[in-house]
Amino acid sequence: MRILLTGVNGQVGWELQRTLAPLGEVIAADRSRLDLADTAGIRRAVDAIAPDLIVNPAAYTAVDKAETEPDLAHAINAAAPGELALAAAARGIPLVHFSTDYVFDGKQSVAYTEADAPNPLGVYGATKLAGERAVARAGAPHLILRASWVYSLRGRNFLLTMQRLLRERETLAVVDDQFGAPTWSRLIAEATALVVARWLERLEPTATSGIYHLSCGGRTSWHGFTAAIRAQLADTDAELARLTAIPTSGYPTPAARPANSQLDCDKLAETFGVRLPDWETALALCLNQDFQQSTQ
Ligand SMILES: NC(=O)c1ccc[n+]([C@@H]2O[C@H](COP(=O)([O-])OP(=O)(O)OC[C@H]3O[C@@H](n4cnc5c(N)ncnc54)[C@H](OP(=O)(O)O)[C@@H]3O)[C@@H](O)[C@H]2O)c1
Repeated sequence: MRILLTGVNGQVGWELQRTLAPLGEVIAADRSRLDLADTAGIRRAVDAIAPDLIVNPAAYTAVDKAETEPDLAHAINAAAPGELALAAAARGIPLVHFSTDYVFDGKQSVAYTEADAPNPLGVYGATKLAGERAVARAGAPHLILRASWVYSLRGRNFLLTMQRLLRERETLAVVDDQFGAPTWSRLIAEATALVVARWLERLEPTATSGIYHLSCGGRTSWHGFTAAIRAQLADTDAELARLTAIPTSGYPTPAARPANSQLDCDKLAETFGVRLPDWETALALCLNQDFQQSTQ
């Protein structure tokens, strides 16, 4: 199986390049090979690669910047996935696409299921929702996997930023009234490989096409997540910033964020037999692996 993979230098794409390798030949299409902002060139690039499966974790993920670059965000997050899905439909091949908890407004008090109505608060969420709808419309067998609060050990993300700030600052104020489940990109990629194998081998890909929530279990706030990161660092670092909790209003951002981002992942578990661990277990797994690497 030839697997066309986008976003290979991103948090999820980097890991997918490794976890999809046992399923086939992964053709790593970075921006230089497949520029998703160039909607007109996508079909040509896909045909030249001639894949049997397309996996698309690439996205315009700068949530605040998207407010001032709506056209570019729309091209990458909405038009491009639609075009990839049309190319997949024309070739008769399946597509796996990634989306986000930010399609919801966060006003619900319990975890969101796939049946709950989206209502994005900002440009990023709106363009990702448009991408989901374009993928679903195109007619190819598809999985749309919605993740939340993704972090990893490389690139720019909340975990690495907080590790740095905890070491640099004396005090650190972090938002304590937005709730969700931090999710390690490696676990998303491992679950995706398992899901894809089961989807294509054992299930009817068209009948099981649709949206699935894929995030770690449990829930915390950004402050709670930072406290857990701090606790892991406390073993090795003597001086760490003191943490304080602030409301969202104390940290204004150009794009509004949902207050509740928690995703109910039962549908994925029931269909594919795959469920990610709770966020605290995932963080321990992620940081313990980092510790082993650094001591080798
Ligand atoms: N990050 C989160 O907290 C989060 C939360 C929920 C859902 N998600 C979703 O999960 C998926 C993976 O997110 P992530 O955190 O892995 O994203 P990421 O680390 O920001 O990586 C995004 C990737 O997309 C690529 N990309 C951007 N513009 C492109 C273009 N014009 N042409 C080709 N490639 C382009 C980037 O390429 P370069 O390396 O060249 O810039 C990068 O490799 C996305 O669909 C995202 O919406 C993310």
